[in-house]
Amino acid sequence: NRPKPLAGRKAIVTSGPTHEPIDPVRYIANRSSGQQGHAIAAALASAGAEVTLVSGPVTIPDPKGVRTIHIERAEEMRDAVLAALPADIAVMVAAVADWRVAAQAGEKIKKDPDGAPPALALTENPDILKTVGHHADRPKLVVGFAAETQNVHENAVAKLNRKGADFIVANDVSPETGIMGGSRNQVNIVGRDGIEAWPDMDKYAVAERLVALIAEKLAAM
Ligand code: C5P
Repeated sequence: NRPKPLAGRKAIVTSGPTHEPIDPVRYIANRSSGQQGHAIAAALASAGAEVTLVSGPVTIPDPKGVRTIHIERAEEMRDAVLAALPADIAVMVAAVADWRVAAQAGEKIKKDPDGAPPALALTENPDILKTVGHHADRPKLVVGFAAETQNVHENAVAKLNRKGADFIVANDVSPETGIMGGSRNQVNIVGRDGIEAWPDMDKYAVAERLVALIAEKLAAM
């Protein structure tokens, strides 16, 4: 039997991409697989937490021992996260689409043989991490992720304050790293007291170590 340092704690995790519909058959998405977020949800549950996982469309199974809510769009993800409050811990791992199509077409958009391609007007999606980080019912510990392809550290420090997070798990998702969609991750933990680079590990090992850090921080609060 494993130790349960998070027994009695509630956690909310987001994972996977969001799909933002263009019309009934097309959508905007990204390359997130959900592996890191799902591994974190599973590790929190193994540590004794009561976990709600809000997942975008992924092909991996729901983690055992976790209440998993499936959504497609960012707005649905926000609603599910807010409905799961209050909680002690929030770990926002999802690669939420920054934009959605402003006016989703009710019917499939047809190709006009003589016309120009349709112009897709975009509008900004809600920032779920920022909403939770500044919420009246803010969880004691709010953790964000930062998938960057440049200036990983600088961007993460700026993100901490803007989003109201306690720490940001920053990684370089440049295509040559193979991190996005892959099974390994090399992360940097960026907190107000500094930056710690963790070695390249499998995403389950990153999840275990992150949960140990969360338990340690919560115990010290
Ligand atoms: O600003 P950026 O998208 O790089 O921030 C990444 C962090 O913010 C991640 O933790 C991600 O889950 C979260 N996020 C969010 N809602 C958004 C955009 C990002 O929760 N609309």
